Amino acid sequence: MSSLSIAPVAGRIGAQITGVRLGGDLPAGVVAEIRLALLQHKVIFFRGQEHLDEQSQVAFAALLGEPTAAHPTVPALDGNAHILDLDYRSGQKVDRWHTDVTFVDRPPLASVLRAVTVPEAGGDTLWTNTVTAYEYLPAELRDLLDRLRAVHTNQYDYARLAGADDTAREHAKVFASTAFETEHPVVRVHPETGERSILLGDFAKRLAGLSGSTSAALIRLIQEHVTEVENTVRWRWAPGDVAVWDNRATQHRVVHDFGGRPRRLHRVTIAGDVPVGVDG
Ligand code: SIN
Repeated sequence: MSSLSIAPVAGRIGAQITGVRLGGDLPAGVVAEIRLALLQHKVIFFRGQEHLDEQSQVAFAALLGEPTAAHPTVPALDGNAHILDLDYRSGQKVDRWHTDVTFVDRPPLASVLRAVTVPEAGGDTLWTNTVTAYEYLPAELRDLLDRLRAVHTNQYDYARLAGADDTAREHAKVFASTAFETEHPVVRVHPETGERSILLGDFAKRLAGLSGSTSAALIRLIQEHVTEVENTVRWRWAPGDVAVWDNRATQHRVVHDFGGRPRRLHRVTIAGDVPVGVDG
């Protein structure tokens, strides 16, 4: 009999799991339940995990798959090659809907995010369910998307940095320091559940084979649909919280409403595979 309790947080995505102390030493049965909850709910939340440090966060992530290098271009936290230090005072500004690292051929399977320092108010994170987003599209649009591919890149849209401070500019430069570009199907078949999901987000710059304006208009339309509030869940962080999301079935973004107040989270990503479309 399991000690875990799993309670949905929103109607279409997200569940909170209680009754577990995360670490690298969890019994196989508990890991299997966590993996199943992740597949069902797309993002799972754990409160009160203040005992975790960088090493034990990575050890927990390793139970779910193979932790990757922290990021293709952004240096890892000193002392741990798997930890991406999301310290918003260092110019970090990923405040648009995205799926992690889709500009490489094999985007991560999942991410494990741990709250280190959070503002008293603000700085929540939102996730959206890209499977239900697909399912709620009219059949005609699903058919169209099934046939499309998108080009994803980390090359920064510098127009966005108008008014940004020097640290944000420096961070953007590092982020784009090595150019990555790849193509993925717009509709991805989940390798474990077989569900179809929409694979776009902020790194998807254009739809292959369409004119620039048609591509931009279509991406905007689909993204608006994907991020409709009904598809989303919002998490109010406390220090020691952990969120794990299925990067093959979600997009996410921070709510950047905390001004200059400190907000720092540590992320570990788990190696994924090449996204496969509906035609294999
Ligand atoms: C991320 O984009 O992976 C981090 C989101 C956050 O800081 O809330």
